[in-house]
Amino acid sequence: LRAAAIAGTGSFLPERIVTNDDLAAELATRGIETSDTWITERTGIRQRHLAERGVATSDLATEAARRALADAGVQADELDLIIVATSTPDFVFPSTACLVQAKLGNKGAAAFDVQAVCSGFVYAMSTADAFVRAGRARCALVIGAEVFSRILDWNDRGTCVLFGDGAGAVVLKAADAPGILAAELHADGSQMNILCAAGNVAYGEVTGDPFLRMDGQAVFKQAVNVLEKSARQVCADAGLTLADVDWLVPHQANVRILNMLARKLDVSLDKVVVTLDRHANTSAASVPLALDAARRDGRIKSGHVVLMQGVGGGFTWGSVLARM
Ligand code: ACO
Repeated sequence: LRAAAIAGTGSFLPERIVTNDDLAAELATRGIETSDTWITERTGIRQRHLAERGVATSDLATEAARRALADAGVQADELDLIIVATSTPDFVFPSTACLVQAKLGNKGAAAFDVQAVCSGFVYAMSTADAFVRAGRARCALVIGAEVFSRILDWNDRGTCVLFGDGAGAVVLKAADAPGILAAELHADGSQMNILCAAGNVAYGEVTGDPFLRMDGQAVFKQAVNVLEKSARQVCADAGLTLADVDWLVPHQANVRILNMLARKLDVSLDKVVVTLDRHANTSAASVPLALDAARRDGRIKSGHVVLMQGVGGGFTWGSVLARM
């Protein structure tokens, strides 16, 4: 058993839905102008789910995990690896993965967080796949979970309209045949400034602006370029071509990025899973949320080849190609 197969998926969104109109009305009370038309046309986002005060990343992650475990028919005590991808952990430490482990009632599994912002989930999947292939884990829980609403500047209309909260999870089990066909990860730390929440962190101390800041146009251009290259590379690594891909499940940042990517890859838009309209950008949670949504509505079926892609702060990017 030296390959990792996807045994189950699950996801969870906080109950509270904030539409573009709701958000525009709220911002208007503070003299900030935006509109449903602007947000929809520029981003494809129509609404987002936001966590209530007191609800943390580990709460969303645990609920998504329970659903993935139920889907896989796996008990929490069977897990020997738990990885949470998040940039909005409950605490500096312990890791959110340890908190999820305790909430699930597992003892003894290795548990740690992966921080690669919107690429976090593909980083975590690739890591778990490597553990399973190396024989270091047999049953892994991989979660992407975020409460990005906590790190947004709600007075910056250029960023606060883009994000939502949520979590998605996958159970990976050791198997004879993959599963995960190929994965590839990249980063370019010299581009940290185009998307960061690091305003004035000096030697670990937050001294000033703790909120997310972004150069939207730079991110846009980078995202399309790196996702195209990575998609071609991961397919080649698996000995496949893009024509073999049944579903593209990209990070949900902006529908214009997704449209441009599909065009460059010559992949039909009907093969691209889009949840951005309902979920907005949930960073590390966006890919597993979209994967679970498309599995549960019957689009992604057993045997389908799925290309998952992340891109985001760091700057980071990567792809995971899987047979369901
Ligand atoms: N409502 C109304 N007007 C707005 C809003 C808003 N919410 N936000 C910005 N504007 C205004 C700007 O002030 C600007 O006005 P001006 O021309 O008078 O100066 C105008 O709209 C155009 O602003 P731009 O930033 O040039 O708009 P752009 O077309 O680039 O769209 C956006 C901005 C949506 C952020 C786009 O650049 C984008 O999607 N970039 C990709 C980045 C992304 O998706 N980031 C998500 C996180 S990163 C990730 O997940 C990988």
